[in-house]
Amino acid sequence: MQKFASLSIILFVCFAQTKAFSIYGFGFGTRCPTTPIIADFDQDKYLGKWYEIERIPMIFERNLQCVTAEYGKNDNGRVSVKNSGINLAANKTSMTTGEAFVPNQSEPNKLVVEFPNQILFFNVKNQGNYHVWSTDYNNYALVYSCNIYLGFIKFEAAWILSRSKDISLENSNKLKELLSSNGVKTSTLETVNQTCNN
Ligand SMILES: *[C@@H]1O[C@H](CO)[C@@H](O)[C@H](O)[C@H]1NC(C)=O
Ligand SMILES: *[C@@H]1O[C@H](CO)[C@@H](O)[C@H](O)[C@H]1NC(C)=O
Ligand SMILES: *[C@@H]1O[C@H](CO)[C@@H](O)[C@H](O)[C@H]1NC(C)=O
Repeated sequence: MQKFASLSIILFVCFAQTKAFSIYGFGFGTRCPTTPIIADFDQDKYLGKWYEIERIPMIFERNLQCVTAEYGKNDNGRVSVKNSGINLAANKTSMTTGEAFVPNQSEPNKLVVEFPNQILFFNVKNQGNYHVWSTDYNNYALVYSCNIYLGFIKFEAAWILSRSKDISLENSNKLKELLSSNGVKTSTLETVNQTCNN
């Protein structure tokens, strides 16, 4: 009973997020692909602004265009996260801030991101995996997130990010190949409109 209560909190929190996770699969035995470890991942070089070019469409991120993510360094050593996007249909800007950290220093490209929320009188943290599968720091990045809840509900998300508002076909194809070779469906990827002054 308690587990279901916490699930409904998770789902509720997802509605409040700019970047939440899509419900992707159901069924016992469902699992997340293994993240390739980038042992020499350089967090400092990864910081700064990224444009979201393509994503696995998320029900909670629907209509959100011109999405950017900005990463910095907090005094506590964690990564500051600022996600922005514009709902073109409603002409409304939305922004979410959070914090990310590396739980295991031997796997520096595997981060956990937390978005604090207040639900009624409770402070809850909406946590998700933020795994950098590939990046050259100056042009492209592929971020993948997967969490299994209650052992059978899979939340999956992926973002192809770029330092500019577009990406070369070569880099885009390379990242999609990496997704498919790890069993992630790329046919569901959608392009994010970046025609904004962001
Ligand atoms: C969107 O909102 C901005 C400022 O809130 C306004 O200047 C602009 O005209 C609006 N655009 C449309 C298409 O409604
Ligand atoms: C940290 O990562 C290393 C390398 O993947 C792994 O061998 C080790 O078990 C991890 N440590 C913990 C506490 O999970
Ligand atoms: C992207 O958004 C702009 C501005 O709202 C719009 O004019 C354009 O048609 C959109 N492009 C696509 C491919 O949807």
